[in-house]
Amino acid sequence: MRKQIVAGNWKMNNDLAETLALLTDLQKQTQTSNAEVMVAPAFTNLYKAFEALKDSNIEVIAQNMHYAENGAYTGEISASMLKSIGINTVILGHSERREYFNETDESLAKKVDAALEKGMRIIFCFGEELADRKSGNEGTVVENQIKNALFHLSAAAFQNIILAYEPVWAIGTGETASPEQAQDMHAFIRKTLANKYGADIAEEVSILYGGSCKPGNAQEIFSKPDVDGGLIGGASLKAEDFYAIVNAF
Ligand code: PGA
Repeated sequence: MRKQIVAGNWKMNNDLAETLALLTDLQKQTQTSNAEVMVAPAFTNLYKAFEALKDSNIEVIAQNMHYAENGAYTGEISASMLKSIGINTVILGHSERREYFNETDESLAKKVDAALEKGMRIIFCFGEELADRKSGNEGTVVENQIKNALFHLSAAAFQNIILAYEPVWAIGTGETASPEQAQDMHAFIRKTLANKYGADIAEEVSILYGGSCKPGNAQEIFSKPDVDGGLIGGASLKAEDFYAIVNAF
C-alpha cells in the first residue's frame, strides 16, 4: 500500500523563534488521518526543529541540498550534512529552485543520486508552466522532467522516491488545478512509471499534488485515486490550516 503524505514546504519563511512557535502550534493539533506528516523549515532552523520534533510523528525535512559530498561550493549544504543532524528526507526540483536558481534536469539527476547514495528519501517536484498547459504540452513536459532526472535509477531506488506534481501556474497563485486535472496528470505519471518500471513499482510510488492546496480544496483533491497527498506551501504556515489539510484524507 502506498503511503499518504502531507508535507509543508515553508520556503524562506520563519526565523528561529517563529519556527519554534509554529512547531509548538503544530504539536497541539490532533491528527485523524493516517498520513505521514512532514515539515521543511529553512536550513538555519533545521537542527532546532529536528530536536523539537524528535519524539513527535512529524518528520523534519530539508528544502534542498547540493549534489557534491563536500568541497568548494560556497553557501551550499550536502546530503551528509543533513544526515548528520538527523534529516532523512529532502525536497528536490521545486519549481522555484528551477526558476530562480537555474536547476536543470541534469543537476537534479545528480542531486537525486547523491541523496539516494546517503539513503535519503526524496520528494521530487516537477510540473508544467501555464504556457505548456495552454498549448496542450503538459504531459510531454512532465514526462521529460521525470525521465531526465529519474529514469536512470533502478526500480529498487523508487522505494525512496516520492513524486510531487506541482503545476507552476498553481503555486502560490491561489489558482488550484481542478481535482480532475490533478487526477488526470497523476494517472498519466503513474502510467509513465509503469511503462518503465512495471505496474507493481508504479502502484507503490506516492504522488503528491502541490499548488494552492488549502483546507477548502484538499479533501476533493485527495479523494482522487492517484493523488496520495500534498506538498503544501502557503497553507502550511498556519498550524490549523495545515492540519485541516492533513485531516482531509
Ligand atoms: P503553495 O505552494 O501551496 O503556496 O501554492 C506549494 C509549493 O510550492 O510546494
